[in-house]
Amino acid sequence: MNLNHKPWAFQHLHSTTDIPTPIFDVLVHAARKLKKISSTPGQYPTLLKGRTIATLFFENSTRTRLSFEQAAQRLGGWVSSFTAQTSSLSKGESLLDTTLTVNALGADCLVIRHSESGVTYTLAKSLSTSLATPLVNAGDGSHEHPTQALSDAFTLLEKWETLKGKKILILGDILHSRVAHSNIELLSRLGAKIFVSGPPTLLPSTQQENRAEIVINPDKVIGEMNAVMCLRIQQERQTGANLPSFSEYFHYWGLTQERFQKLQKNTLILDPGPVLREVHICSEAVESSQSCILEQVRNGVFMRMAILSLMCNPTGFEQWMQDRL
Ligand code: CP
Repeated sequence: MNLNHKPWAFQHLHSTTDIPTPIFDVLVHAARKLKKISSTPGQYPTLLKGRTIATLFFENSTRTRLSFEQAAQRLGGWVSSFTAQTSSLSKGESLLDTTLTVNALGADCLVIRHSESGVTYTLAKSLSTSLATPLVNAGDGSHEHPTQALSDAFTLLEKWETLKGKKILILGDILHSRVAHSNIELLSRLGAKIFVSGPPTLLPSTQQENRAEIVINPDKVIGEMNAVMCLRIQQERQTGANLPSFSEYFHYWGLTQERFQKLQKNTLILDPGPVLREVHICSEAVESSQSCILEQVRNGVFMRMAILSLMCNPTGFEQWMQDRL
């Protein structure tokens, strides 16, 4: 781990590409330390004391929103929670003015989820003169979900010493999955060999193809995999008839009982959620000892604690990290 790679090297977190590998290593180290002390009440450092984390979710969420809010609170911060459904958006207020308003109420970091790809880039550009507050992408359309991928990589590194040479199959609707896009970039950069499989109409763009091997029939490779990441159909992002029926999706590209039986006994099963049992993954796989699904959720809080501290209080974060080396 190289702490000389200054944590404040990035202002906003739009994409996993904003996190150079040395900073990723620091985040994993911090998340591991935070997890270790989590069982003792009152042990968390107050790295976000006096800071307000605003969560602006223009699209629904369970895991991401709650984990950001818990992350802020566990480190002594305040949460300013905006929910689109009950907001003045219904009166016609724009995304830009809503963001400026939430920021004016007081925010040291704006965590944003939106259905439009690239929304944090647009906001950062539009607001650069009026707003220096760090932005965190909590999922933008089908583009990226960087904090999910950072949490997933942390989960895998708890199981394995390194990702180098590990074979990971991402299964399902790759085209519309921001989780897949962030994970393909990050996990391949960390040395994993990524395979993707899904309906041919839901496979990745050429740019992502360079980092992942496309497999039309998952049964050809599933027995060799070290991990399988299952994805639901992103129904809300389908614009045309890209899909076979749900039953065909499950039969050909889901983690069915039959496919689950073909996995090696130590193959890890991941799913960013929401988990749709018997629609894209069988209950047997969800509940098996190979499943990391709830660990992914738990680890999301520790990774987001590390990310928020690093972005909102880099000096305190660095000091805390040095103290514990
Ligand atoms: N993984 C994930 O983004 O889940 P939520 O939509 O519940 O936040």
